[in-house]
Amino acid sequence: MALREGKLSTYLFFVYLAFMFSHLALDVHGANECVEKPFPGQSFVCVCNSTYCDGIEPNTRVQLPQFNLYRSSKAKERFSKKILTFTKTVPQTKNIWVVNRNVSYQKIKGFGGAFTDAATINIMSLSKLTQDKLIAAYFSPKEGIEYTIGRVPMAGCDFSTREYTYADTPQDFQMDKFALTEEDLEYKIPVIKRALSMSSRNISLFGSPWSAPAWMKTDDSLTGKGTLIGQAGDKYHRAWALYFAKFLEEYKKQGLEFWGLTAQNEPADGMITKFSFNCMGWTAESQRDWIAADLGPTLEERGHGDVSLMMLDDNRIWLPAWADTVLQNATAAKYVKGVGVHWYLNSLVPPLTLSATHERHPDYFILATEACSGSFPWGRHVLLGSWDRGEDYTHDIIQNLKNWVVGWVDWNLALNGTGGPNWANNFVDAPIIVNSGKDEFYKQPMYYHLGHFR
Ligand SMILES: *[C@@H]1O[C@H](CO)[C@@H](O)[C@H](O)[C@H]1NC(C)=O
Ligand SMILES: *[C@@H]1O[C@H](CO)[C@@H](O)[C@H](O)[C@H]1NC(C)=O
Ligand SMILES: *[C@@H]1O[C@H](CO)[C@@H](O)[C@H](O)[C@H]1NC(C)=O
Ligand SMILES: *[C@@H]1O[C@H](CO)[C@@H](O)[C@H](O)[C@H]1NC(C)=O
Ligand SMILES: *[C@@H]1O[C@H](CO)[C@@H](O)[C@H](O)[C@H]1NC(C)=O
Repeated sequence: MALREGKLSTYLFFVYLAFMFSHLALDVHGANECVEKPFPGQSFVCVCNSTYCDGIEPNTRVQLPQFNLYRSSKAKERFSKKILTFTKTVPQTKNIWVVNRNVSYQKIKGFGGAFTDAATINIMSLSKLTQDKLIAAYFSPKEGIEYTIGRVPMAGCDFSTREYTYADTPQDFQMDKFALTEEDLEYKIPVIKRALSMSSRNISLFGSPWSAPAWMKTDDSLTGKGTLIGQAGDKYHRAWALYFAKFLEEYKKQGLEFWGLTAQNEPADGMITKFSFNCMGWTAESQRDWIAADLGPTLEERGHGDVSLMMLDDNRIWLPAWADTVLQNATAAKYVKGVGVHWYLNSLVPPLTLSATHERHPDYFILATEACSGSFPWGRHVLLGSWDRGEDYTHDIIQNLKNWVVGWVDWNLALNGTGGPNWANNFVDAPIIVNSGKDEFYKQPMYYHLGHFR
């Protein structure tokens, strides 16, 4: 299945089209094949280095009744391409696909991942040629899965090697000392630029902050339970809005423009006592009031009124109530364009909550803004070759797409063999695992699962 930007639509044919490919299949070989490295009890990863990485056959147009089929399987294939032919007979044992073109659903924005400090540090730890192979695996039309969305943490998060923000000088309400850091200038920005130069499509970047500077917070810390000091409209809330504008402006000076922003990564984390990594608490009410009084007006005044501002950026357990509360205020509703959702409590909350949100607020898009495997304290963080984790991705993406979500953004583009670096030891898995000692990287089943949707 290859979902380009376009309508998710279904089409009802009165002539049933069935797959009957056993004797009609034409295998297409040309792109590099996967160099398999199997793991006991798991499937395999594909090994890439400075001179070699497996690729993907181009999805060139064929004439009906022919069609292209790409397949990956636990046992052997990775994006293997076949040209098949539709037939008009209906073999009893085959699947029948019925398409109704009269009904269309959401327009797909795209798929992507996050340019975290950890991801870009891992990428930069490889030789230049191997870096190119890794970036191409995500962004190039010839060798990669052509991501079109990139999330960019605004300063530090847990996937950083230290705790920092862009404005750590106390009482700097004018944000005069606001400055990007080595992480931006030496790691994130150079990698994003190389991704853009390899891409034939646009990459929509969106920024997300984890915490305001400690001096602006009730707990004087980037972690733990804490919120912005004061209330909407005061100097702390204005300064925090200015921080967002400055972020866009400093990145623009570096040649990068943003499509979107989220108001806060996981606002619920900062309501939890002793929360262990960068966070800041908001309720739906305080987020609404700050967007209406400070963030929206500041972005507009400084020429960033077109940016796609997303609320929530947290687990869907908060929906649809969070959206109801924020959109209750007409001013906040004017500034917000969409809702960001994370996947971490999805086993507890049915995806219908997404459809319910869409039905109540059809003019606001829903984007899946973060997901990763191996995030629980129990179990393995990095599990090389896990086909199950790939299936978890596919399952979640399909559920999201069936419930009005416009795209799905993975977490770290690349991590090391432990699932880091992460200053808070909150290690997780990623679709690409880097082994800098051997100057190679491993494309996990999750990478291929995601690639089938783009
Ligand atoms: C890279 O991998 C290919 C395929 O496994 C291998 O033939 C080649 O020797 C490797 N190159 C380096 C520099 O290790
Ligand atoms: C689709 O729409 C066309 C034009 O309105 C109509 O003639 C046709 O019956 C519809 N098909 C279905 C399956 O609803
Ligand atoms: C990318 O975006 C820019 C600015 O929004 C636009 O001018 C350009 O046509 C887009 N390119 C593609 C390939 O969509
Ligand atoms: C929206 O919120 C702002 C800031 O709290 C407030 O000043 C305004 O009156 C609210 N507007 C509406 C229509 O509720
Ligand atoms: C990954 O990074 C963490 C933090 O820097 C480090 O402790 C760990 O040893 C690294 N793992 C590997 C396999 O390099």
